[in-house]
Amino acid sequence: MKPAAEKPRMGRVRHFLDIDRFDAGTLRRILDLGHGYKRGERSGEPGPLSGRVLAMIFEKPSTRTRVSFETGMKQLGGDVIILTRSDTQLGRGETIADTARVLSRYVDAIMIRTDDPAKLHELSEYATVPVINGLTDRSHPCQVMADIMTFEERRGPLTGRIVAWSGDGNNVAASWIQASARFGFEMRVACPSTLRPDPAVVEWARSQSATVVVMDDPAAAVAGADLVVTDTWTSMGCEDAGRPAMLRPYQVNEALMAHARPDALFMHCLPAHRGEEVTDAVMDGPQSAVWDEAENRLHVQKGILTWCLL
Ligand code: CP
Ligand code: NVA
Repeated sequence: MKPAAEKPRMGRVRHFLDIDRFDAGTLRRILDLGHGYKRGERSGEPGPLSGRVLAMIFEKPSTRTRVSFETGMKQLGGDVIILTRSDTQLGRGETIADTARVLSRYVDAIMIRTDDPAKLHELSEYATVPVINGLTDRSHPCQVMADIMTFEERRGPLTGRIVAWSGDGNNVAASWIQASARFGFEMRVACPSTLRPDPAVVEWARSQSATVVVMDDPAAAVAGADLVVTDTWTSMGCEDAGRPAMLRPYQVNEALMAHARPDALFMHCLPAHRGEEVTDAVMDGPQSAVWDEAENRLHVQKGILTWCLL
């Protein structure tokens, strides 16, 4: 039996933590698995993850992440256990490290949605099974993998394209910036000066030769873009009464979309706040890819799960 305080040997477990941790080839492999699952490949019986169990820790609410991971695991022959802080000993002070050690004795992988990325990293440090980032305050890599899959199936590779973000420079924006370095597209972020993306993320992407432009003018950011992306003005845990007034000029509406290429797509990770960060006309319009984005969480996460576990 292992000594209680033993840390797992690093480097042997396939965690899915953030896009910047991966080389382009591995991300391509995961996306290709996702495209393949959507086409119905590898769907034979028994499922490739037969007998495997994924524990999912939710410290914030979720619809898509929970249902897509649960459905994906079940379609692959596996099962899931849903855990929250309040119904586990995490809520009574058991450490993340000890929780990681214990869960690793029962389950085959752990997904966590939490606030502080330090919790994700502590979990991955002490778990002996793969850990998947289901969103932190700083990133949302599963979402951006689904978004890239969605762009690829409608328009082909993102390489050489222009992606424009208009709104809060939040966790989803950070994963998009990281992706720009790995997929070779120009990333433009338009946001108020107080809501800019983490400078460390921008600097990292630029150090990888990515073109990342942060500006305050949404029309300039969207000009000639192939893809326009936004997200809620108020992310979970970021409640602040001043945000709507600051972010109103960044609303994605038909006037803003008119600056993009005529064949530009619109994406939003959802949930959307119609009439705030996006209008009904854009959400429900011909350029919107939001429902495919939501669907592709299922397919790309099946790719992530099999990459982690097989
Ligand atoms: N986009 C996304 O992660 O949605 P949920 O918060 O519903 O999981
Ligand atoms: N930026 C949003 C994404 C929700 C899926 C949030 O963190 O609340």
